[in-house]
Amino acid sequence: MAVELSLIVAMSKNGCIGSNGDLPWPRIKEDMRFFRETTTGSSVIMGRKTYESIGSKALSFRKNVVISSTHLANINTAIDFRSAVDQCFYKAFAIGGARVYSDALASDKLRTMYITRIHKHFDGDTFFPDYDKSKWRIESHRQSYSEDCKCKLTFEKHVKI
Ligand SMILES: NC(=O)c1ccc[n+]([C@@H]2O[C@H](COP(=O)([O-])OP(=O)(O)OC[C@H]3O[C@@H](n4cnc5c(N)ncnc54)[C@H](OP(=O)(O)O)[C@@H]3O)[C@@H](O)[C@H]2O)c1
Repeated sequence: MAVELSLIVAMSKNGCIGSNGDLPWPRIKEDMRFFRETTTGSSVIMGRKTYESIGSKALSFRKNVVISSTHLANINTAIDFRSAVDQCFYKAFAIGGARVYSDALASDKLRTMYITRIHKHFDGDTFFPDYDKSKWRIESHRQSYSEDCKCKLTFEKHVKI
C-alpha cells in the first residue's frame, strides 16, 4: 500500500525550529498534546539529532524510523529518507529536523503539513527550510494562546494543491 506522507513542525515567527539540540522555547503543553494526538498510531521519521533530542527513546504507540549513516541500537534505522519511507506503514509523518523536512518537501509523496506557528521570535541554529508556498493552501487553522510561551499559537493544516 502506498504511504501517505505528512510533516509536522512547530516554528517561531522567524522560522526557527531548534537551538542547541533542543526546542528553542519552553515546553508548550498544548503543542506537545497536538503532536502526540496527531501522530499516534502512525509511523514517524526523524533525523538522528532529533532522536537524540528526545532522549534516544522511541515515541510510544508509533513506528519510529531514525535516519542516520550509522546503524543505531534498539531502533529502526534508515540510511536515507527514501528507505525510511519504505519502512513505514500506510501513514507516516516526517517529524524533523531541518534535513528531514527538506527531504519530505522534495518528496512527491508529501500531501499534508501540520504547522504550529508560535507567534514570538526565538533565536536558534535550526530553521524550517524554504519551500514553494504557491503549491500549498491552508485547509484549516485554529488559534490559541499558551501561557507556556506567553504568546499566541496557530495550528495550521496545509494541503498540496
Ligand atoms: N520545532 C520542531 O517541530 C522540531 C522538530 C524536530 C526537531 N527539532 C529540533 O531540530 C534540531 C535537530 O535538527 P537537525 O536538522 O539539526 O538534525 P536532524 O535532521 O534531526 O538530524 C540530522 C542527522 O540525521 C541524519 N540524516 C538526516 N537526514 C538524512 C539524510 N537524508 N541522509 C542521511 N542522513 C540523514 C544524519 O545523521 P548521522 O550524522 O548520524 O549520519 C544527520 O546528521 C534540534 O534542535 C531539535 O530539537 C525541532
